[in-house]
Amino acid sequence: MLAPDNRYTDADEAEIVDAAMKTRRAVRAFLPDPIDEQVIRDILEVAARAPSGTNMQPWKVYVTTGAVKQRLSDAILNSGIRAEKVEWEEYKYYPDKFFEPYLTRRRAVGYALYELLGIGRRDVDRMRAQHDRNFVFFDAPVGMIFTIDRRLNMGSWIDHGMFLQSIMIAARGRGLHTCPQAAFAPYHRQIRPVLGLSDEEIVTCGMALGYEDTSKPENELRTERAPLEEFVAFMK
Ligand SMILES: Cc1cc2nc3c(=O)[nH]c(=O)nc-3n(C[C@H](O)[C@H](O)[C@H](O)COP(=O)(O)O)c2cc1C
Repeated sequence: MLAPDNRYTDADEAEIVDAAMKTRRAVRAFLPDPIDEQVIRDILEVAARAPSGTNMQPWKVYVTTGAVKQRLSDAILNSGIRAEKVEWEEYKYYPDKFFEPYLTRRRAVGYALYELLGIGRRDVDRMRAQHDRNFVFFDAPVGMIFTIDRRLNMGSWIDHGMFLQSIMIAARGRGLHTCPQAAFAPYHRQIRPVLGLSDEEIVTCGMALGYEDTSKPENELRTERAPLEEFVAFMK
């Protein structure tokens, strides 16, 4: 409850907000259960309350289901372009060469996921097959593709990311899960005609949205975070 001075009076409020953030994780296997379009609208409407420099709201989202989602998957999976050969032409999500502490963190999540799935470290075929699960949105009933106008500057990418996180949190508030998916970005050439994107639009990422399939091992993954001491400096 909000008190008249705009301060929360009830500790439960913190619990609710924290729970939404703590239970958000990248879910990589979804149930086919459909999601009511009104629920998706509600999520996007509340997420669009995300802040942005001078309220520019630098985001656009294509919500795909059914036949269009299928066409998107087909266009990518039938493109014949293997993930390891794909070019990050529009923007680079990752550094050209990983370095510490990022390299160790990246490896940890990769190994943990493959271990849960029983994929050996040299089992390239199964790794590739798992990566390709991105392109069916891990079987989620809703697949979103996000774009940003290429004429904007880096600041707008900060705002864009906040919009993404807000969607993921709003989804949790409704019992839904998500997986943000940069894997789509390099396939912008395949995505463009399916969604009718303009030349100004850069595909930033995709996002799966749906109900978690709790029976799948990949969803047992729980990622770690560095302790506060590693990334906070309290200066007095
Ligand atoms: C912008 C963005 C893009 C991501 N792209 C992918 C992706 O393409 N495929 C995937 O399986 N996970 C992807 N992830 C999920 C990350 O691997 C995940 O957030 C990270 O390992 C931390 O785990 P957690 O989200 O479960 O806490 C992405 C995350 C973000 C924020």
